[in-house]
Amino acid sequence: MLYLGVDLGTSSMKVLLVDGKGTVLRSTSQSYPLMMPQPGWSEQDPEEWWSALCVCVPKLLEGIDATQVAGLSFGGQMHGLVALDENDQVIRPAILWNDGRTGKQTDALNNDFGKEGLLSLTGNLAFAGFTAPKLLWMRENEPELFAKIRKIMLPKDYLAYRLTGVHSCDYSDAAGMLLLDVANRCWSKPLMEYCGVTEEQMPQLFESYEAIGTVKPAMAALLGIPVTTVVAAGAGDNAAAAVGTGTVGEGSCNISIGTSGTIFIPSKEFKCPPEGNLHAFAHADGTYHLMGCILAAASAYTWWRSDILKGESNEDEQAGITREKLGKNHVFYLPYLMGERSPHNDPSARGVFAGMSLDTTRFDMTQAVMEGVAFAIRDSVEIVRSLGLDIKASNLCGGGAKSPIWRQIFANVLNLELFVPESEEGAGYGAAILAMVAAGEYASVLEACAAMPRGGTKYAPDPAIVALYDERYEVYKALYPAIQPIFPKM
Ligand code: XUL
Repeated sequence: MLYLGVDLGTSSMKVLLVDGKGTVLRSTSQSYPLMMPQPGWSEQDPEEWWSALCVCVPKLLEGIDATQVAGLSFGGQMHGLVALDENDQVIRPAILWNDGRTGKQTDALNNDFGKEGLLSLTGNLAFAGFTAPKLLWMRENEPELFAKIRKIMLPKDYLAYRLTGVHSCDYSDAAGMLLLDVANRCWSKPLMEYCGVTEEQMPQLFESYEAIGTVKPAMAALLGIPVTTVVAAGAGDNAAAAVGTGTVGEGSCNISIGTSGTIFIPSKEFKCPPEGNLHAFAHADGTYHLMGCILAAASAYTWWRSDILKGESNEDEQAGITREKLGKNHVFYLPYLMGERSPHNDPSARGVFAGMSLDTTRFDMTQAVMEGVAFAIRDSVEIVRSLGLDIKASNLCGGGAKSPIWRQIFANVLNLELFVPESEEGAGYGAAILAMVAAGEYASVLEACAAMPRGGTKYAPDPAIVALYDERYEVYKALYPAIQPIFPKM
C-alpha cells in the first residue's frame, strides 16, 4: 500500500509518497508566503496551506495507481493559532510559532501562575510563540474577533479538518499550546479559564498514530485519493521528524535544522526540568520528550545568503569555509532574528554580528552565521547535559543538514557524533510512518520505525576542533547578556 506524508512547514509544504516498506517513491513541494505585518510578527493564511495540499497531492500521484493510497498524515509547524468561527471559517490569519507579539501576555502567564504553578499544571513555562498567549493577545487586541471563536486549531489540524470534517489534535502538538496538562494528557481547566476559552472550543485529542477518520468524498475527489484513505492525527513537526529519523525510545536524540532549530530527546516517562528551560512535550509514539527550540536556524542562513548576499548557491557561499578554519573564526553571530525561545525566552532579542575587522571576508561572515546557529543549539545541549542526560550521539535532519561543512560544524560545536539519514525529509517521512500505523500496516510506531530503511552518513567530532570551539562558545555565551539590555531599545 502507499502513504502520503505531509510536512506543513513555515516556508513551504513538502509531501512524500512512501510505500509500506518505507521507500520514498516521490516528493513534491509548494512554497507559500510568510506575512510579517510588523517587525517580529509572523502570520500565514491557512487557505495557502490548503491550496498547497490541493496542488501537491494530485501532482505527486500523477501516473500512480492512487487506489493504493491507504493513509495520509501530517507533521505540522507547531503552536500556530488558527481560529474558526461557528461556520468553521478562519477568523483571521494564523499567528505562527515564531511570532513575537505576545511578550506582555507571556509575562502575565508566567507571573500570574508562577513558575511552579505553570510547570505543575502544564509541564511548561509560557513562551511568546505558544498558543495560549496568542489567545490572550487576541482577547485584548481583537475582542470582536475573539468573541467569534468556536474552535481553536493548530495548523496541521486545520488541514485534517478540511479533509475529514473532524476537529482533532494530537498530544505532541497540543503540548505546545500551554493549554494541555501534558503529564496527564488532558486539557488544563485552569489554563483554559485564564485564556477565556472552554473545552467545547478545543479540538478532540488523539494519539498521533490514531485514525481520526477517512477523507470526505468531495475532498477525496479533489485530491485524487480513495475515500477509504485513513487520516492519522499526525504530530508537531519535531515529533514527526523524530519518528522520521527513528528517534524513539530512551537514549536517542534528534536535531532538526529547518526554519527553526530543535534538539529533541525522547523519554518513556514524563520529565519536567525544574527550571522549565526545555519544553516538556508528548512524543508521537505515545511517550514524552524534552526539547530546546531556537527560532531562526536554517532561516538565519537563508536570510544571510539569499536576502543579504544575494548569493547564487550554497556551494559558492560555503566554498571558502574549509575544515582548517573550523574553531578559528573571529567573527561571531547571534541568530536571534525573530527573538529567541531557548534558552533566553526573549521576543525582543535580534540578530548581531560581532568581531569583524578590515580583513574579515564574506566567508568568515557566512561561517559565523552557521556557527552562531550551532552555538545557539549548544545552549540547549548544555541544559540537557546539566540535567544529567548524557547524550553522545544524535540524528541530524532538516534543510540545514544538507551542507557537509555545516554538519562538521555541528558535530564539533556540540561534541556529538551525528548521523545524517539518507532521506533528510524528517517530518514528512515521520508523518507517512504515522499514517502506516493508523492504517494497520504496523502495530506501533516503534515497530514501524524499526522496519524502515536507515542508510546515512556519520560525522564524528574531532577533539582538537572541539577544544577550539569550547573556547569560542565562551565568547558566544557572553555576548547575549552583554547586549540584552539594549535589545528592547532597538
Ligand atoms: C517548536 C517550534 C518550531 C516549529 C517549526 O516548538 O516552535 O520548531 O514547530 O515549525
